[in-house]
Amino acid sequence: MLKDLVRTNRSYRRFYQDHAIDERTLTELVDLARLAASGHNLQPFKYILSWQPERNALIFRYLTWAAYLKDWPGPPEGERPSAYVVMLGDTEIRKSFTFDQGIAAENILLGAREKGLGGCIIGAVEREKLREALEIPDRFEILIVLALGKPKEKVVLEVLEPDGDVKYWRDSEGVHHVPKRRLEDIIIG
Ligand SMILES: Cc1cc2nc3c(=O)[nH]c(=O)nc-3n(C[C@H](O)[C@H](O)[C@H](O)COP(=O)(O)O)c2cc1C
Repeated sequence: MLKDLVRTNRSYRRFYQDHAIDERTLTELVDLARLAASGHNLQPFKYILSWQPERNALIFRYLTWAAYLKDWPGPPEGERPSAYVVMLGDTEIRKSFTFDQGIAAENILLGAREKGLGGCIIGAVEREKLREALEIPDRFEILIVLALGKPKEKVVLEVLEPDGDVKYWRDSEGVHHVPKRRLEDIIIG
């Protein structure tokens, strides 16, 4: 059911790193992004796929994890993503990128869920360093990085009161809690 996929499509940040994801799986996921809605149907995205441990290690270096978890620097070796999709905007097709990348990214993440995988959208990327490391030409804007793997953490949804705190947290068992606003608080008319 779509609702189950959406409910369990949480941001996962700890993975079974030794669960390999192959090129074919990543290609299938990008095929879902390829079919996403696109303003003016410009389809301005290009993708770099990473499933090789050395390339994964290179990309990991330039990502920032879970800004609200102040004392957690990100997943340790052994719990890191086993694949990445780097989403690029092709400036020869479009000059600025707004909604489309979110839709394409969500298709990839839902497709990953369906395959028993999970991921996290990473917007906090050291873009120029990543550009250099992956030798990405200037023509492409680095938009987001999707980290993918087999989730090794439990994530649960919590009710966010109107005056509550949006920050996610981890409890003493390592369970990750994500507050979400109630339906009645967001439908205003
Ligand atoms: C555009 C965007 C950028 C994000 N960037 C990061 C990031 O740099 N690092 C990170 O750990 N999580 C990042 N996230 C994940 C959010 O923190 C996450 O979606 C939020 O905490 C809600 O959790 P949920 O995805 O499980 O609903 C990003 C999410 C979006 C949509």
